[in-house]
Amino acid sequence: TNMNNIRNFCIIAHVDHGKSTLADRLLEYTNTIDSRKMRQQFLDTMDIERERGITIKLVPVRMQYRANDGKEYILNLIDTPGHVDFSYEVSRSLAACEGALLVIDAAQGVEAQTLANAYLAVDQGLEIIPVINKIDLPGARPDEVLRQIEEVIGLDSSQAILVSAKEGIGIPEALEAIVKRVPPPTGNEDAKLQALIFDSIYDNYRGVISYVRVVNGCIKKGQSIFFMATRKEYEVEEVGFFTPFMSPAEELKAGEVGYVIANVKTIWEARVGDTITDANSPADKPLPGYKHIKPVVFCGLYPLDRDDFPRLREAIEKLQLNDSALAFEPETSEALGFGFRCGFLGLLHMDITIERLKREFEIDLVATAPTVAYEILLKDGEVIEARKPSDFPDPVKIEEIREPFIRLTIFLPSDYVGKAMKLCQDRHGEFVSLDYITPERVKLIYDLPLAEFIVDFHDRLKSLTRGYASIDYEQVGYRKSDLVKVDILIHGEPVDAFSFICHKDDAYKRALGVIKKLKELIPRQLFEVAIQASIGSRVIARENVKPLRKNVLAKCYGGDVTRKRKLLEKQKEGKEKMKMIGRVQIPQEAFLAFLQAN
Ligand code: GTP
Repeated sequence: TNMNNIRNFCIIAHVDHGKSTLADRLLEYTNTIDSRKMRQQFLDTMDIERERGITIKLVPVRMQYRANDGKEYILNLIDTPGHVDFSYEVSRSLAACEGALLVIDAAQGVEAQTLANAYLAVDQGLEIIPVINKIDLPGARPDEVLRQIEEVIGLDSSQAILVSAKEGIGIPEALEAIVKRVPPPTGNEDAKLQALIFDSIYDNYRGVISYVRVVNGCIKKGQSIFFMATRKEYEVEEVGFFTPFMSPAEELKAGEVGYVIANVKTIWEARVGDTITDANSPADKPLPGYKHIKPVVFCGLYPLDRDDFPRLREAIEKLQLNDSALAFEPETSEALGFGFRCGFLGLLHMDITIERLKREFEIDLVATAPTVAYEILLKDGEVIEARKPSDFPDPVKIEEIREPFIRLTIFLPSDYVGKAMKLCQDRHGEFVSLDYITPERVKLIYDLPLAEFIVDFHDRLKSLTRGYASIDYEQVGYRKSDLVKVDILIHGEPVDAFSFICHKDDAYKRALGVIKKLKELIPRQLFEVAIQASIGSRVIARENVKPLRKNVLAKCYGGDVTRKRKLLEKQKEGKEKMKMIGRVQIPQEAFLAFLQAN
């Protein structure tokens, strides 16, 4: 094929605006997939993706299309994940394209991720074709949405296409627009090889399969290739296209999208964003944009049944093969035993990982509440990272504590602005801006500590706005914050599992909440037990659990010895489910009540 007959494009949208449904229609219309084989949302292959209706992994598909000009075109559709947690993958897949269909729901209008995705695409220099979808809906307001495209996003709306992906309206128009308006790839077949890896998956039989866009040069079987970021060399075993199933080809040339298999054993050697070049005649420099992605949200994962620990390790290792953003290290907890501290790109990434461990690997887990990584500047000038309260040094050694912030964009009806602003303020947000998109709709921007966001911010916002708010966020780095570590002491012994980090102004209120709850959960002992909260050596709150003599034998009036023994054994069993902290027994439940996320 001639490069002039290739179009590489993607579809970007806010969640639920119909990206996958539109992709399905394009595949059908171009006969890429036999309509009998066509399952709904063909591109979303993972069970969880189908159930939740969200796209997690990118799948590129090659379509053939005879346009109105009578010529045959190759259209490569690169699907993108819609959620912010995966925005790095979105930006890599955009880098593999020359154009984007920006899908906007005709009833909902522009939402937070419509804007975020549109900006990403503009940054990458893509040709953007606005598509107003769901025009079949009774509540569709295409004229209003056209106006928003001009005023909120700043794009020319005169060329927007009106579509109903559900009813198949406007599909030929969309395909013609791709051919006419998305520029063909530029690049040089005869130059040195540069291929962008925009995704990779691990296959049990074939090892790593890298999804690539060849920018310059060619890649073919037998060639020695070099991964420029990881500096690894391999020999190509197979290259090919996605039709959408993998079909081998002779070679992939500049402008083309396909896959490369090169006997690569781990996904870290062929990372998203890396550039493949020829080992014998390497390019001078990699393509722009490779970024080492760091996890930002952490939680502990522990098997409920301690014997499941090796299975849990195996399962996490398996998931990691296909998810190089997932990080983990072994961790022990006095309450939960052996487990792992895992790092994720965001809350959704965490939820999905936990769900897959439970479902695909059938492991019963306890997941601890999510935390973020703090940066601590010590008085001696050293900067350390703390991912959990027990990583915090003695407060006297601390000069300053920094925490990750996000810039949060909220789209919501103007009636709810007051409530949303109060929520952001309560969570220590810093106001950035407020704009009216229409008299009824507002764009509100706040900078917010990530730790405050991951607790239950989104759920709170949804309930305050009756579900009418949409959000998007980006990380904006670490900022100094007035944070403290609150320790909980039981009968004078600090219990790591109960300690927490919070804003100084919230410390007393939260400490009180914790010790009141513990007072209910810790059974009375033979002596009085003090539950204290402290910051460093200063006690800020205290509760006492009154003593009680719990004599199980009192109920058996002397006589029956076997019954007595049974009761004693039962009591012993009960004790085994208790943890001794100093002289105090704390039931496992108490730990679970605190540690478990929701
Ligand atoms: P993500 O994959 O999470 O980004 O969602 P998506 O943008 O792919 O949305 P999806 O295609 O899953 O569609 C969301 C919902 O809108 C589904 O219930 C679709 O059936 C529905 N939908 C999609 N297109 C249309 C349309 O043209 N008209 C109507 N009435 N409903 C549509």
